[in-house]
Amino acid sequence: MSNQLIDSFGREVNYLRVSVTDRCDFRCTYCMSENMTFLPKKDILSLEELETICNVFIKLGTKKIRLTGGEPLVRKGILNLIKNLGNKIGDGLDELTLTTNGSQLEKYAEILKENGVNRVNVSLDHLDPSKFREITRWGDLDKVLAGIEKAKSVGIKVKINTVALKDFNENNILQMIEWCSLNEYDMTLIEVMPMGDIGSENRFNQYLPLSEVKKRLSKKFKLTNIPKKTGGPARYYKIEGKKIDLGFITPLTHNFCESCNRVRLTCTGILYMCLGQDDNVDLKSILRNKGSYFLENSLFKAISKKPKGHDFNISKSGINISSNRHMSVTGG
Ligand code: 5AD
Ligand code: SF4
Repeated sequence: MSNQLIDSFGREVNYLRVSVTDRCDFRCTYCMSENMTFLPKKDILSLEELETICNVFIKLGTKKIRLTGGEPLVRKGILNLIKNLGNKIGDGLDELTLTTNGSQLEKYAEILKENGVNRVNVSLDHLDPSKFREITRWGDLDKVLAGIEKAKSVGIKVKINTVALKDFNENNILQMIEWCSLNEYDMTLIEVMPMGDIGSENRFNQYLPLSEVKKRLSKKFKLTNIPKKTGGPARYYKIEGKKIDLGFITPLTHNFCESCNRVRLTCTGILYMCLGQDDNVDLKSILRNKGSYFLENSLFKAISKKPKGHDFNISKSGINISSNRHMSVTGG
């Protein structure tokens, strides 16, 4: 048997995204309800358990690990995991990255860089402080911007993730592109995905198709499709006269599953084979009841069940929670 994780459609799975906590110090309206009930500690994998699972993945060919959340940097002791995984860079692992809301980045950027983190994705949906507060409910824009600058100053490459939201930031996207270009941050626009109950907000009201955004941008700029492969689902464009690559992640209008190379581990130890499907394997119970020795075999079995693609849907009348998991549990 090959020592690589290859699914039944021939896709090599070499990218693991790990949600290290479901907690967050923000409450973005498209992601969480204001009064979130978080998972009890006993259900969450310890940092050692997370590391054990990551190491098995690395042994089986995983080259890239991205830590997500919730907000990964609010997890107590997270630096230990980052240090230990950082030590694996060049020894099986090619890259360790983070998706963060930036709130703790000013404090941690330096130590992240020292431990081999050369790139981070920072979620940022608006450049106006009060709009930023409105969408995150609790966030402080200045703090996030200071974190982003700090990351840049220590040599971490920053990519900005912006969720395109109807009637909220559609008129700010241009300003964000200018700002990213000026600072040489790449930028990715993301369509709202129907994940998890978010309380009173209605997702149809938030949904802004990126095809629409692209159409509007094309009137202003010349966009040229570039064949950039990051192992992710984004399609990239060069913008004439600007210094950034602009990515579009459009799970609802474009299917990116053919080249999917990733799986997702939740902070509760559930391995999801696809962001939009429920096929999963409970690695926590395997680890706690049988022992780490059994993980390897379970991973081969799990990957062979990776589905061909996802099935998101947003409609005015229909159900708009295709997945009842929150992004903060699965990791984006
Ligand atoms: N739809 C689209 N993007 C989301 N994110 C969180 N929840 C959703 C959702 N329901 C984004 C975050 C972050 C990235 C990991 O996913 O803003 O940038
Ligand atoms: Fe936190 Fe990110 Fe969800 Fe916002 S989108 S509440 S920053 S996990």
